Amino acid sequence: MQNANSTPLSARRGAPLKGVAQVPGDKSISQRALILGALAQGETRISGLLESGDVHSTAGALRGFGAELTAEGPGRWRVKGTGVGHWRSPASELNFGNSGTGSRLVMGAMATTPITAVFTGDASLRSRPMARVVDPLKVFGVTYEGQGAKALMPLTLHGAKDARAATVHVATASAQVKSALLLAALNAQGTSHISQDALTRDHSEKMLAAFGARITVTPRAEGGETIAIEGPARLAGCNVEVPRDPSSAAFPLVSALIVPGSEITLPAILLNPRRTGLIETLLEMGARIEVQNRRVSGGEEIGDLVVRHSELKGVEVPASRAPSMIDEYPILAVAAAFAKGKTAMRGLEELRVKESDRLEAVARGLKLNGVKYEIEGDDLIVEGGAVPGGGTVPTHMDHRIAMSFLTMGLASEKPVTVDDVAMIATSFPEYQDLMRGLGAEFMERPNE
Ligand code: S3P
Repeated sequence: MQNANSTPLSARRGAPLKGVAQVPGDKSISQRALILGALAQGETRISGLLESGDVHSTAGALRGFGAELTAEGPGRWRVKGTGVGHWRSPASELNFGNSGTGSRLVMGAMATTPITAVFTGDASLRSRPMARVVDPLKVFGVTYEGQGAKALMPLTLHGAKDARAATVHVATASAQVKSALLLAALNAQGTSHISQDALTRDHSEKMLAAFGARITVTPRAEGGETIAIEGPARLAGCNVEVPRDPSSAAFPLVSALIVPGSEITLPAILLNPRRTGLIETLLEMGARIEVQNRRVSGGEEIGDLVVRHSELKGVEVPASRAPSMIDEYPILAVAAAFAKGKTAMRGLEELRVKESDRLEAVARGLKLNGVKYEIEGDDLIVEGGAVPGGGTVPTHMDHRIAMSFLTMGLASEKPVTVDDVAMIATSFPEYQDLMRGLGAEFMERPNE
């Protein structure tokens, strides 16, 4: 999807990376803080909010439903909500840009209020399946018109009137689908039960409890868990402190592991166990990552990470770990390319429906840079060793593909170029400055 307006960037090998990297706020928690704030009664004050394209798209959409959102300074926002069930139909269509999470959670949040909204987004978001969210929401009585069987955007959603509680099993290992159902249940009469086999990220559950929803989570004998949530709920605005995003931290972290002589510190990173699959895997690979000052902030576990260059070795990454590191496979594939031996990543089917088909995009990037790999079904097996580099990687409007292959270029023999860095601003606008601050060498013109 490169065009005349694309901004390519190359990364090349240089000096060791050193210093302290303050990565921005967690995207998942930022999105939820705005949405729950817009549903609550009274005022929600947020600090550490991720100021990125995706989060700003959600903020714009929430204003359309009648909530008041005010930016008071970098990362500091005030949200005056309408109360559950009091959103109004937006006057114009809602453009969610690149944001799957924002759009899907908002679909859930409006599903049990009798209003209508039109959802759209950029070319990447318009190619992503919305049926996985809007079909399960039908149990609450929603109707929709989308494009084709996958219910692509532009999609018109009609919320249900007098919705009743429902019992739903979420077969997909998706926190977005689970969260959409939980948000829909807030305005349904009675107690809804939402179950899931996979232990996907639980930020919605935690934050709903903090806003005063009656919600309980019970493990199931057969694995997974069931969430009971009562409606109609009365949410009360509160203060939310957003911890720093482990999925963004992953890029400087892996950079430090693969660039010889590096040592960096990543302070106050979210360490919710449902988000730490990458760290667990890298430790098994022999990474020197120390977690210091483990503490709790805003109801979430956080800690400081000290990361040193490491000799990595290949490992088996079981499919069961995928939910806790679903966004981290592209950067893990890069770490694996520098490891000794094979790294087998199992059960990656969900990667095919991200901002791009990430399994294909990663494979393409590896190939273009001389890294050997195999794809067997939904498994990716990377053979590590010397990384020649020298390729120009198509990013397909995917921020994580762009940052992953720039990371590769920091340690490969020849520089690595990505075709467009514009999308990095959807999740990590300060990425280039932060990496340059640690000593990374990026070049606007590949032959500089
Ligand atoms: C997210 C859930 C994940 C993840 C996305 C953020 C969330 O998506 O990939 O970046 O905030 O709930 P899925 O639920 O589709 O796995």
